[in-house]
Amino acid sequence: MNSDNLKPDARWGEPAPLHDPYILANFKARNSDVLITTPPKAGTTWMQQILYQLRTGGDDGFMAIDEVVPWLEITRQGKSWQQILLQFEKLPTPRIFKTHCTAEQTPGIGTANIILSSRDPRDCCVSFYHHILNMTDEARQHKEIPAPASFDEHVDNWLEFAAWYRNVKSWWPYIDHPRVLWLRYQDLKTDFEGNLDKIISFLQWPVNDSQKQTVMEFSSFDWMKAHDEKFSSQGVSAGGHNSKPVFKPGKFVRQGKVGDYRELMTVEQEHKILLKAKKLLEPECIRFLELDL
Ligand code: A3P
Repeated sequence: MNSDNLKPDARWGEPAPLHDPYILANFKARNSDVLITTPPKAGTTWMQQILYQLRTGGDDGFMAIDEVVPWLEITRQGKSWQQILLQFEKLPTPRIFKTHCTAEQTPGIGTANIILSSRDPRDCCVSFYHHILNMTDEARQHKEIPAPASFDEHVDNWLEFAAWYRNVKSWWPYIDHPRVLWLRYQDLKTDFEGNLDKIISFLQWPVNDSQKQTVMEFSSFDWMKAHDEKFSSQGVSAGGHNSKPVFKPGKFVRQGKVGDYRELMTVEQEHKILLKAKKLLEPECIRFLELDL
């Protein structure tokens, strides 16, 4: 590990509250690692919980999911990147991380196992709107995410920020990569057990039937909703027992539906989102994501 603070190569991006290029440049991926990579609001936390439960064979004793499945690139208040990497070294094997990085900025492709979860951009956009509104004022300030004045303003901000597009576009070339498993939120909703089996077979982790039943219970929407406090710290001081809630109580695990965007989104807003997807993504990717309506 480099212990100096020499600026990392530009490929790792610029420092921001949610993005520490020093961590990315100096992270040493292991063969047994699993990286969950998603655009924001595509079911990241759900996948963190699924993988943590699979690895432990079922454990409801953890305090905060970000403590046991850390967010790779986020900065932590009061901790240097060197301290964060040392903390990562002490995690139990196989280590599991979440990241919202594009493929270009993700360390360890070809070494680590990568599990990708994608979700309809319209649902991600609506989910992100509630995400912002349900954050505490302190967390919004720390993460530099201002509250939009209206849903329409939010859609325009979301389109301009374009994280969903950047993320999906960058990962599409890896769809058939042997160390990458690409799952879709809609499939996890309709056939959870089938997708769990795919994950188990991809990772080759030993999970018996009774453990699988526990994993299914603890990863269900109802269980996660009932234990919202375990999922709502999300990074102000992520990774420590002192993590403060980023969300108002009971507000992180929200609806968990496919097509929830219909409650809020106008046809015009929907068109803007889909048009941008069609401009930026390969037709095959659009079909795979079921956006060719
Ligand atoms: P909604 O806001 O549409 O309800 P992320 O973790 O990437 O931020 O994604 C959050 C979204 O995943 C939220 O969507 C949340 O409700 C949903 N989610 C969390 N746990 C879930 C579960 N067990 N099953 C289905 N959806 C879940």
